Amino acid sequence: MRVDVSVSVIVREFEVNKDKERVEAVERTCEVGPSNQLSLFTDMLGDPICRVRHSPSYLMLVAEIDKEIVGMIRGCIKTVTCGKNLSRSKTSVTKHIPIYTKLAYILGLRVSPNQRRMGIGLKLVKKMEAWFKDNGAEYSYMATETENLASVKLFTEKCGYTKFRTPSILVNPVYAHRTKISRKVTIIPLTPSDAVIFYRNRFSTTEFFPNDIDAVVNNKLSLGTFLAVPSGSYSVKTWPGPDRFLLGPPCSWAILSVWNSKEVFKLEVRGASRVKRGLAKTTRILDRALPWLKVPSVPDLFRPFGFHFLYGLGGEGPKKLKMVKALCEFAHNLAMECGCGVVATEVASCEPLRFGIPHWKMLSCANDLWCIKRLVDDYSDGSIGDWTKSMPGISIFVDPREI
Ligand SMILES: CC(C)(COP(=O)(O)OP(=O)(O)OC[C@H]1O[C@@H](n2cnc3c(N)ncnc32)[C@H](O)[C@@H]1OP(=O)(O)O)[C@@H](O)C(=O)NCCC(=O)NCCS
Repeated sequence: MRVDVSVSVIVREFEVNKDKERVEAVERTCEVGPSNQLSLFTDMLGDPICRVRHSPSYLMLVAEIDKEIVGMIRGCIKTVTCGKNLSRSKTSVTKHIPIYTKLAYILGLRVSPNQRRMGIGLKLVKKMEAWFKDNGAEYSYMATETENLASVKLFTEKCGYTKFRTPSILVNPVYAHRTKISRKVTIIPLTPSDAVIFYRNRFSTTEFFPNDIDAVVNNKLSLGTFLAVPSGSYSVKTWPGPDRFLLGPPCSWAILSVWNSKEVFKLEVRGASRVKRGLAKTTRILDRALPWLKVPSVPDLFRPFGFHFLYGLGGEGPKKLKMVKALCEFAHNLAMECGCGVVATEVASCEPLRFGIPHWKMLSCANDLWCIKRLVDDYSDGSIGDWTKSMPGISIFVDPREI
């Protein structure tokens, strides 16, 4: 029988000095993923707000019973693209312009294993949504694994969320050897201001594009934005700037940015058998001892490891996959120099560029599930109407601040 303790549960704002250690203790007991299989643990490196603190507006709440912390939730709000409109200028040139909305995101919801099914998760979500509404958010969304039944049911059956998008998280291990990048591709690092112009010009109508992209690109965790072009077309010396480049681009190109998630939190895979750990270790020893063999070594994911996240992925032209692959190889080498365990990215389920992204199926998640809820009754998003009912686009812009 379900015990309703929600009356004795106090939900209040997280206070760093008072709560930090107790929150970390709860976090350590909370696996994410189906029990009795491999599960993922997060080490917040002493900063429980780390996964939201780079967003323009954020909040963390804790749930307490008799002064004992039994659960927590994080949330943030920002302005993103939810659709596009056709605009006709005086010169009668039509172009797409973005429609923006204020979007809230729920993440890092945890309830102590021995306090579950008592209504605490639900109470935390409701309190967070009240804060979202007070701060003008029009939609709230959350991401979970399709198999995480507790989380899917909580949001869809109890909180009114609907299944919205199913992007894929693609993860590639970082080997002990460098990856060779094709000589036929030139990689040009862009300055943050060029990257902002580029992204606004090309991606502002992409779903979930953050209106404050300048804050993302200029954040100290953003390690750089890189453009791949066919060798001989442009070089660092002949780079004409984003506007002129986009007026006359080469036949193919691709772009991406690298985010240093390693400084924010670490992950750890638990539940692997000793045999699996042993096999993984053997591949690493081989790769280190005989690097010329280029053994695809499995990184040590069974101890806390950091990663880089690739965001702002885009490209065009018949060789765009080749350009994307070269950028990913470049990013791999950067991650290797920084001591990361893996490189990860997240793309829309029908993103054509995904075929250029090297990844291991066993480390990736083909169907991450994003659920959404409309928080207000009236529409400020113009002709698109209710975003929750809209068809998915080919691409999405995954904000690295909320990974
Ligand atoms: C998901 C989680 C936060 C739920 O917390 P909780 O306090 O147990 O949830 P509640 O008691 O408020 O449950 C509310 C509803 O959610 C659903 N639910 C919760 N746990 C469930 C489970 N194990 N199986 C099926 N449905 C479940 C039910 O519909 C439940 O209502 P009911 O008890 O009347 O049937 C908790 O299981 C948890 O911390 N899991 C590990 C971390 C995680 O996966 N977080 C979510 C990432 S987005």
